[in-house]
Amino acid sequence: MKTMNMNRILRLEELTEQARAAALKSYSPYSGFRVGAALRLTSGEVVTGTNVENVSYGLTICAERSALVRAVAQFGPEIQIEAVAVANLNGAASPPCGACRQMLAEFTLPDAPVMFQVEDGVKTMAFRELLPEAFEMKPRS
Ligand code: THU
Repeated sequence: MKTMNMNRILRLEELTEQARAAALKSYSPYSGFRVGAALRLTSGEVVTGTNVENVSYGLTICAERSALVRAVAQFGPEIQIEAVAVANLNGAASPPCGACRQMLAEFTLPDAPVMFQVEDGVKTMAFRELLPEAFEMKPRS
């Protein structure tokens, strides 16, 4: 049992390393904030992304969403995300923004751990805690 937990922790740490590596590719000339995200799918595949800024500012895409669209483009609409890691190279806290949480909600398991930098280290929360009231479209028929 202990070995299983250790393996799980090591795999989560590895995911954070992959997010950090992805941040090296960041295109962020306007903010200088270099973010990376790594998503582990239930298939075991890991897909990474980084933030890509734009001179119009508003068109900027965050690392989490760039990883997400890449994952769907690569593996299709049935993907399920079982773990998420976000890291930045600026030594700052970077919890996923609200837009990214809502986008992740579409494909992320409620119990999936989400790891992100905080002031003094890395925080892990279950996705359901991070976005308890995600928008869902359930029109009355
Ligand atoms: N950013 C992310 O990549 N992820 C987030 O969850 C929040 C913010 C990026 C967008 C922009 O390029 C930079 O960080 C500063 O906001």
